[in-house]
Order: sequence, then C-alpha cells, then structure tokens
Amino acid sequence: MKKRNIFVTTALPYANGPFHIGHITEYILADIWVRHQRMAGNNVNFVGADDTHGAPMMIAAEKKGVTPQEFVAEIRAGRKQYLDGFHVKFDWWYTTDSKENVELSQDIYRKLKAAGLIYTQDITQYYDTKKGMFLADRYIKGKCPRCGAEDQYGDSCEVCGSVYRPTDLVNPYSVLTGTTPELRHSTHYFFKLSDPKAIEFLRDWTTGNGADGKPRLQPEVLAKDQEWLGAGAELEDWDISRDAPYFGIPIPDAPGKYFYVWLDAPVGYLASLKSYFDHLGRDFWKFLDDPSTEQIHFIGKDIIYFHTLFWPAMLHFAGKPYRVPDHVYAHGFVTVGGQKMSKSRGTGISPLKYLELKMDPEWLRYYLAAKLSSRVEDIDFTKQDFFSRVNSDLIGKYVNIASRSAGFIAKRFGGRVVDDAMNDPLLEKLRGAAPQVIGFYEDRDYAKAMRLVMELADETNEYIDREKPWELAKQEGAGEQLHRVCSVSLEAFRILTTYLKPVLPGIASQVEEFLNCGELTWDTVGTPLTSEHEIRPFKHLMQRVDMEKQLDQLVPDVKPEPKPVLPGNEAIAPECTIDDFGKIDLRIAKVVDCEAVEGSRKLLKFTLDLGEEKTRTVFSGIKSSYADPKSLVGKLIVLVANLAPRKMRFGLSEGMVLSAADADQKKTPGFFLIEPFEGAKPGMRIH
Ligand code: MSP
Ligand code: ZN
Repeated sequence: MKKRNIFVTTALPYANGPFHIGHITEYILADIWVRHQRMAGNNVNFVGADDTHGAPMMIAAEKKGVTPQEFVAEIRAGRKQYLDGFHVKFDWWYTTDSKENVELSQDIYRKLKAAGLIYTQDITQYYDTKKGMFLADRYIKGKCPRCGAEDQYGDSCEVCGSVYRPTDLVNPYSVLTGTTPELRHSTHYFFKLSDPKAIEFLRDWTTGNGADGKPRLQPEVLAKDQEWLGAGAELEDWDISRDAPYFGIPIPDAPGKYFYVWLDAPVGYLASLKSYFDHLGRDFWKFLDDPSTEQIHFIGKDIIYFHTLFWPAMLHFAGKPYRVPDHVYAHGFVTVGGQKMSKSRGTGISPLKYLELKMDPEWLRYYLAAKLSSRVEDIDFTKQDFFSRVNSDLIGKYVNIASRSAGFIAKRFGGRVVDDAMNDPLLEKLRGAAPQVIGFYEDRDYAKAMRLVMELADETNEYIDREKPWELAKQEGAGEQLHRVCSVSLEAFRILTTYLKPVLPGIASQVEEFLNCGELTWDTVGTPLTSEHEIRPFKHLMQRVDMEKQLDQLVPDVKPEPKPVLPGNEAIAPECTIDDFGKIDLRIAKVVDCEAVEGSRKLLKFTLDLGEEKTRTVFSGIKSSYADPKSLVGKLIVLVANLAPRKMRFGLSEGMVLSAADADQKKTPGFFLIEPFEGAKPGMRIH
C-alpha cells in the first residue's frame, strides 16, 4: 500500500482566552484520527495555531495595558499544559501573528486580485468618535427596531430573535464608550464570491471527493452548502477589509486597511505548516504542490461557511501551488448536562480543573471516543454516563483482562507465554475484527469502534470466566491449561490495546513496555506475543474515577431553585462564588450634586465624586423617596462603579447607586440609600 501524506489541522482558537472543553474535544477528535493514520504507517503533519487578530484582541490587550502581540503571546504560552495534559500531540503549534502568515495572506490576496476577484466599495458604518474607530456589530447596542427591547447588539435581538443591520437600531450607542456613534464612509475591499465562476467552482468542490475517494463533505455539511449554493441562491461578496486601528495584517497597497481576521485565520493553517517545515528543513512549497498531498481540516459546526465556501474559493483562485482542502470534517458542540456551556452561568467543564483533580486524561479521551461519530451531532457530557463508561467499560471490561491474567504469567511461568495458544479461536476472532475497527477509525466513527472493542472485551472476559484461571491455579496438574488460558488472555489484551491505541496512547505505551512487544501498529495485530520475550511485571494501569472526589467537583450540580427566607422578602439569589462577587466593583462615592430630572417621574440625577479625575453622572429611579434631592449633597453613598455605562434618554449613566427596597412596596414603600459608617472616604472599595 502506498503511504499517504496528510496535512491535518484543527480550527485555530481565538487567542483571547484559555481552552474550554469544546476546544479540547476537537483536538482529541483530530488527535485520535492522526494517531490512527500513523498506526497505518501514513505520514501526517498535524499542526495548530492561535488565531490572534481582530478587534476583540486589540481591546482586551488595551484593557490589560499590554500590546496585542504581548497579549496573544501570553495566551499562547498557556496552551502547552492543556495539550500535553490531554495527550494531544500536535507536531507544531504556531500563531497567525507571524511573518509567514503575513507573507502567505498577502500573496493569496495579490493572486485573488490578479484573478479579478477583488474590488473596492464605499460603505457606511458606525464610527465611535471618542474611541476613534469604526464599530463592528458586536460593539454597537441599542433598542431593537422590532420589539423595542433595550441593549440589543448591532446584528440581532436576543429577545425577539430578529436580525437587522446596526443602522436599524433605535438609539444606538457604542459598547466601548457609551457614546452615540456617527455614520461615516469608508472604502472596503471585497472578495467577489458572487462571481459565477466562484459559484461554479464551489458547486463542484462541495460535491466532489477527497484524494481518498470519499465524499469531501459530510452529508449534513453538504446540505447546508447546498442551501447557500443552490439554484436561485445568491452568495454575498465578502468584506475582507477593516480600517485602522486594527490588530491584523496590512492589505498591500492600501494604507490604513487591514485584512479582516477571518481572511488571515485559515491562511494561518498554511503559515503554521510552513513554519514547521522551515524548522525541519523541508520544502513547504514542494509539499503543497505534490499531487499526493492531502489537506484535511477538522472544525466545529459553527464555522462551516468560512471553511467550505470562503476558504476553498480563496485557495482555488489563488491557484497553484495552493491546493484546495480534500476534506473539511465538522463536529457538533459539547454540552454539559444538557446545557450550553456558559462561563457566567457556571455550566461547562474546566479542562485545567479536570487535570488538577488528578483525573486521567485518557478517561476523557475514551469517554469522548465512545460518543463521537462521523455525523455533525452535539454531544452531551453527563457525570453518570462518564462514571459508568469509565468504570464499567474501560476499566471493568478492558483493563481487567490484564489484571486477571498477567500475575500468573509472571509468577508461575517466568513471564513467558505459550506459543501454541496463539491460534486459539478467540484470538482469531479478535484479529479478524481489525479491518472493521480500522475502518471505523478511518471514517471517524469512533463510537462504533469503541462499541466493537468492548464487545470483543466482553467475549474475552466470558472466556476467562469459563476457564476460571483462579481455580486452575489451585488444581493439581492443571498448570498447562492455566498457562494456556493466561497466554490467550494476555494476547487478547495485546490485540485490544492495539485497537484502543489511538484513543489511549498513554495506556498503550505502558502496555508496550509491560508486554515487551515493541510498538503496536495496525500491522502488528497479526504478530502474536511469543515465548521468546519475557513479559515484564504488571503494574496497575488505571484508577477508577471517583464520583464525590472528582466528578462532583468537576461538574457542580445545577443549583436548586432558591427558597424565600422570610415572608415578604425577596428570595435569596442563586449562589455565587467569591469570584463572581469580585467582578462587581463597589465604591464609596460622595454626592456632589443631586437633582430631579425634568420630564421624568422617577429619576434623580447624581453627580458623584469617587476620587477620580472627573465626577460621574449617575441616574437612579428613586425620586419618590427623596423629595428634596439637595438634602443628599455632601453625603456618602455606595456605587457600582464598573457597570457598563448605559445611555439613557437624559444622558449617559456611569454606574448604579445602591439602595434597599422591600419586594412588597405596599408593605414598606420606598428606597433607602446605603450610607457607610463614619470614616469611609470617596473611592474606597467595598470588599
Ligand atoms: N478562531 C476561529 C476559528 C478560525 S479557523 C481558521 C474560532 N475560534 S474558537 O475558539 O471560537 O473555536 C475554535 C473551535 O472550537 C471551533 O472549531 C469551534 O467550533 C470549536 N468549539 C467552540 N465551542 C465548542 C463546543 N462547545 N463544543 C465543541 N466545539 C466547540 O472559531
Ligand atoms: Zn427584538
């Protein structure tokens, strides 16, 4: 068989935060496939990188008081502990903030331009005059034009679900400064995806096959693409430029213009490979140009559009030696206990916490493998399911086979198996499953592979139960039979270990060591243990997972509904952590001025001194309780000082004044401002 040369990537994670369990899942999914290819003797280059560009990175860096480059470099430095921790073995991890990416992105752009697929057009966009930048949709909020909900983002309403343009918002404001943005013109660069030749190419590419002769895309992905590409449908041209200030790659011959992050992000796949090849002294361009090279991207379902329309079109029209992807494989999303992961709601799983709790990374790998298929399906993590798959299947069925047989081989038979046990019908059956197991891995149907392997483990355990080595060991004259049974079991264990090796590389390497059998590959399934090799003493391979000490710590239960404590009072809010509390910055503020707002029944306008350079303006709806606002001047109160500024009809409110109120306003009407004890000074933080 000819060896394949495969270039494999996973989606490049945004460099604005640490990995979550969704990222780790994607890496494990791809890592299993890559390890399978290597066991088949194929050459694989498996690379990743951080996706570093864009406005969010720029703003996060600014907040931290560092340069965007420093900001993303720090995130990148934190990646290794996760990848090592979960036995994910990229050959190379790089960054889109690199000279290779500048070179390649600009090169591809120039070629697209030469192909007549780039044009410019003036567009009108909101501009934040205070910040001095154009605002992406996510940085504009306002009132939903359809349902009137306040504080909705520039592209869609979370309340009524309608989608619109930022210019449709009523009373728009900049999320960055709270100011009202103004409309300005700017020249943007567009990639002409609507060009008939682009559409024709994409119709062809999406329905074609990869170099392995299999359909390029999964059926669900193809169906999506056909919605976008089908007859009558029109692809919109793609706006690929952003105006300065922007953390990105400059567009050649276009001062002040940068590539939109999604243009240079996928080019980052190639940049990472190039950097890896330069490091190895290999010829990157030759590799790309080699017809036997295969290019495969693993991605999540949310970025199908970018990877199956923009990206192949960019590559195709940039021309040789660039090559179009052979396959783009999409996966579903990980949910935890049926809930979308959300940091703010505390749902989700922290990969670092998993490792801190001394949970075995191969438990997670096995658990995910047992649930992953080639379809684009979400997968749900539940504690009970994890517990039973790890303890009952992985350990109870597989690991146990070794514990049940290895001891006798070591103690009674000098660490040697008996050769003529190696053609036992059980073993022939196990070996015969190889093409099926390998096929499942190849098709990324890991769940089917795991199910088959566990069935084979069941049969092996039934064999051991039937033969009862522990009884043979006590019987006079049964030594030969005991030797045979343990040899068969151990060889069965070797075969099953091979079948699980892409998923459990750590266990497999311990087993290779203990069986003293060399490296397990797909080729060695048919090469049994022999009496020539001494098996080394058996060490315990894997612990069981503990529900209380590990899983319960990792995945906190969804909080029960809070109960009211005292009649008449509001229920206590759901539990929060000290970290949650730390996010709220409460300060002592001095009332410099206070007046009723004209035209409002409820509002008082406070001018507050926090010991900052400027005073703050804060609106509060407590007018009914303070008929004489001037009486408040000179008093100290408490302010939520880091609340996002809010644009109100009467001006910008830069915080929230704290006051107490009874839930039952009939019982005890009114608001009661919070006043600190004697000695507190403006600006002091409340802890
Ligand atoms: N930076 C872009 C990708 C650029 S690729 C040229 C991006 N980054 S991301 O950090 O948001 O997501 C990285 C990958 O993680 C994507 O494939 C995404 O689908 C995947 N996942 C993000 N959340 C996920 C889950 N909850 N579950 C599984 N995968 C998830 O998109
Ligand atoms: Zn709405």
